[in-house]
Amino acid sequence: MASYVFMKVLESSAQRYDVGINILSLGQSNKIKREIAGNYIATGDKVLEIGCGTGTLAILCAEKGALVTGFDVSPHMLAIARKKIQERNLVDRVQLKQMGAIEMDKAFDNEAFDKIMSTLVFSELYSDEQKYVLGEAYRVLKHGGLIIIADETRPNSLVKRTLQLLVRIPLMVITYVLTQTSTRTLKNIKSFLTDAGFEVIHQKKSLLNSFGLYVARKG
Ligand SMILES: C[S@@+](CC[C@H](N)C(=O)[O-])C[C@H]1O[C@@H](n2cnc3c(N)ncnc32)[C@H](O)[C@@H]1O
Repeated sequence: MASYVFMKVLESSAQRYDVGINILSLGQSNKIKREIAGNYIATGDKVLEIGCGTGTLAILCAEKGALVTGFDVSPHMLAIARKKIQERNLVDRVQLKQMGAIEMDKAFDNEAFDKIMSTLVFSELYSDEQKYVLGEAYRVLKHGGLIIIADETRPNSLVKRTLQLLVRIPLMVITYVLTQTSTRTLKNIKSFLTDAGFEVIHQKKSLLNSFGLYVARKG
């Protein structure tokens, strides 16, 4: 009942997304963004964010001195991102594009970025889209560059999977309300990264193994 009421509040505006996603991800959403910006982004990096949503991670990276290009298919999410970026005077450090991931081949030059990042987006893509996006990420990343992906993963044990389901149901609803898409936990991301040519250099699971961070290098 509580999550139903909460959903109704969230439905009223994408502006509620930031608060909503952090509560529904039990704090993982903000925590992982701070971790990515803090550990992997350096001053002067050219960074691409796939599915930047309301711009939280792009802003953290720009505040660290990176030049960020973020794209998202949702104009509503981008409108919030634009407002936040303007409020923080980061317009000259963050460029936003409204486009789908499937358009990456036309949008970006070869080896244009030092880092590519994406949080809570791959779980909204079908396997074929994930493979395509990773292939494009490999093309647009500089040699030695990093791709950093954080998303929901599938725990091995039944108990953990049941607990995860209790959290996932409201999360799936909120995602659908805000983006008209649904999510599924990542199953093969590590092998997809390897197949695309990346070397996975760091992997971390948290929250009962239901949330994963993957860092891979184009080597
Ligand atoms: C759950 S939100 C995550 C947003 C942000 N990355 C974050 O961590 O808060 C998923 C985002 O992915 C975007 N998205 C989903 N499918 C996409 C696609 N095919 N191309 C571009 N963006 C997509 C949605 O519009 C939405 O903003």
